[in-house]
Amino acid sequence: MGGADAGGHDNTANGDNTANGDNTANGDNTANRDNTATAVHAAGSPDTVVAWAPGRVNLIGDHTDYAGGLVLPMAIDLGTTVRFDRGGTHLRLRSGRRRPLSLDLPVAGSVARSLSDLEPSWGRFVAAAAIEVGATIGGDGEISTTLPVGAGLSSSASLELAVALALGFDGSPLELARLGQRAEHAASGVPCGIMDQLAIAAGTTGHALLIDCATERYQPVVIPDTVEVWVLHSGVKRRLADSAYAERRAATEAAAEVVGPLAQANLDDIESIPDPVLRRRARHVRSECDRVQRFAAALATDDPTTAGELMEASHASLRDDFEVSVSQLDELVVALSARPEVFGARLTGAGFGGCVVALARPGSNLSGVGSAAWLVRASDGARQITG
Ligand code: GLA
Repeated sequence: MGGADAGGHDNTANGDNTANGDNTANGDNTANRDNTATAVHAAGSPDTVVAWAPGRVNLIGDHTDYAGGLVLPMAIDLGTTVRFDRGGTHLRLRSGRRRPLSLDLPVAGSVARSLSDLEPSWGRFVAAAAIEVGATIGGDGEISTTLPVGAGLSSSASLELAVALALGFDGSPLELARLGQRAEHAASGVPCGIMDQLAIAAGTTGHALLIDCATERYQPVVIPDTVEVWVLHSGVKRRLADSAYAERRAATEAAAEVVGPLAQANLDDIESIPDPVLRRRARHVRSECDRVQRFAAALATDDPTTAGELMEASHASLRDDFEVSVSQLDELVVALSARPEVFGARLTGAGFGGCVVALARPGSNLSGVGSAAWLVRASDGARQITG
């Protein structure tokens, strides 16, 4: 979808990742990671700004963030680099060989009012971030990424946060995440929650982040070394994701009007919601929040078997109650679950296509599963590298 995952827009900025090497990754793509930022840093002048933001994968807790529920994503070691030589009031950014973005700062007038008309379309996320930062000093440079496109790994949130940092944002991870969320709403029109941006802003190496989206409090949860995290693409580009996402969110809000905040709602109350669709949507949110809590506990006690079972249950709930899966995602989950080295798998992110996340034994090779596969590691959050 255009929102959380940049899948719905022209992903030139996020999509042209050839500069960083081949990240189709069927296997070990670690060689490409973080190298861009490091190399640019070494070559940078004092006036060169470089910022990097990871993508994220959600281990469990989908379609709960905007309902004030729990989520457990992690920032990953694939991400977006923004680099430019600072100066002037114009921002010119290239991405691959496509048409560059050219913006006058501060972004104002018709550009700010109709972001959805801005071309190239990835520039909408850049412009929205520039508006939120209130940037007045621009520059000339480029954007590159190691993130796969349209995969549910939050390439647009990664882009927005990297741009905000490059343009001089200075504040806490939560403030950065909120800024990114506002930029996402403005650029894509998708009413996303805070999960993606907060995971990207506040990530910690070796940890997932347990976020209570009602309070926006978060705490790191160690990922034990008895598991590795894989992301497998279903091969399906996400379809109808933007409108369906907004529709799902509206349904959870309608259900919450009947039974109160869904994350804590009484189960009997949920089962007595008259409308069967709202009842299913509410049941998913409530049960998913429970699963997030139990999953975090399973990680803390190094119990990957239970964690894997919870992932399977999460997928079933997203498929049956929330109805955001597609057959290719279901088949991928079944294929992965049949493998002895996999503890569990589920769709990750908004659904409607995109990727599955799997928890596997260390040393597993899932590179032949799905249309592309990435072994990902929990990474630190977004940061400015120079400037
Ligand atoms: C997208 C949104 C997030 C979240 C997920 C589903 O990634 O951007 O806020 O709602 O979908 O969990």
